[in-house]
Amino acid sequence: MTNGSVKRWQGEGAVRDRLNRPVRDLRISVIDRCNFRCPYCMPEDVYGDEHAFMPRSEWLTAGEIKRIASLFLQLGVTKFRLTGGEPLLRRDLVEIVAALAELPGADDLALTTNGSLLARRAKELKSAGLKRVTVSLDSLDDATFKMMSGGRGDVATVLGAIETAREVGFSPVKVNVMVQRGKNEEGVLDLVERFRGTGVIVRFIEYMDVGTLNGWRREDVVPSKELVEKIGARWPLEPLDKNYRGEVAERYRFVDGAGEIGFISSVSNPFCGDCHRARLSADGKLYTCLFAANGTDLRTPLRAGASDAELIGLLQNVWRSRADRYSELRAELRARRERVEMYRIGG
Ligand code: GTP
Ligand code: 5AD
Ligand code: SF4
Ligand code: SF4
Repeated sequence: MTNGSVKRWQGEGAVRDRLNRPVRDLRISVIDRCNFRCPYCMPEDVYGDEHAFMPRSEWLTAGEIKRIASLFLQLGVTKFRLTGGEPLLRRDLVEIVAALAELPGADDLALTTNGSLLARRAKELKSAGLKRVTVSLDSLDDATFKMMSGGRGDVATVLGAIETAREVGFSPVKVNVMVQRGKNEEGVLDLVERFRGTGVIVRFIEYMDVGTLNGWRREDVVPSKELVEKIGARWPLEPLDKNYRGEVAERYRFVDGAGEIGFISSVSNPFCGDCHRARLSADGKLYTCLFAANGTDLRTPLRAGASDAELIGLLQNVWRSRADRYSELRAELRARRERVEMYRIGG
């Protein structure tokens, strides 16, 4: 953490929730649509051609996103991450990036994407001020990746996007791999081998019960511990400290110096205690947890002309009343069926 951001934590406006957690990251979903249909997120039978996504008129504009982001900076946020659905389906994504990059005080500006449309806009995004990209890629095997992306993804295209992202200077480039028992777990070593020594950081994510549509079962989760052992048996690993308090990934380095990998273990080892993430949906609702049932509408007051002070008051109230820790209480809370779908708040 830089001295600047330490100051902001303690400064005027810094806000803590009921579990004394500050707000540090704002994850901004810019669109609820996606060109993939990963069965664990947007199953094709539910999200067919007829599905009614959010109308464009409901999307926050680049200017509105910038305004909300600037208010969050005053509350202690230092990092923005753009997500979707698939954020590159938004034609004005470059404009959104440029608007956020202009804000003074943000240490980090990152994008999470499925990589299918990234290559041709990577350079433009970099020039607009985007600092990092994280690309999802669940398998290097064509047939498996097709299945994991609902018949839409193509491994070569995503690998090409990762390469282009490195070439235009995003650093580091990360690759997210969601692992499901019996589906793509066999390909884990191939993914590690492919990216070892390239500087690309692969992170394996435990399959989560986000949303209500993926028919999640605990037995489909491959616990990170198992993957650490499997990978470590082939290429010895050593744990690393977190880069910052509340980082979701547990980091390991290859003992032979070929770089690092990460594991996101929100089922087997929840990290709610340090969770400082707020999530904004494309239509301007603020969610305080990935598993929240409802969000607070920010767009209505914004469009009705609320002042900065009024909006900051609203954000402070929401954050101060936050007590979410779903992953730590999963066993008790799982029965509750209402939960926002992941593609609406970008994971
Ligand atoms: P860095 O900024 O590089 O540290 O990445 P990040 O972990 O902030 O972002 P990324 O979008 O790559 O997160 C990876 C995945 O971790 C997400 O897509 C989610 O699946 C999961 N994840 C991130 N934040 C949370 C969280 O607050 N709760 C839970 N349960 N999972 C999360
Ligand atoms: N469990 C874990 N990760 C998920 N993602 C989407 N749905 C789930 C889920 N149910 C991942 C995607 C992508 C990231 C944004 O979130 O695979 O890598
Ligand atoms: Fe799209 Fe990502 Fe959901 Fe897959 S996981 S359907 S790529 S938003
Ligand atoms: Fe944060 Fe909710 Fe995830 Fe826990 S389950 S880490 S509170 S987003």
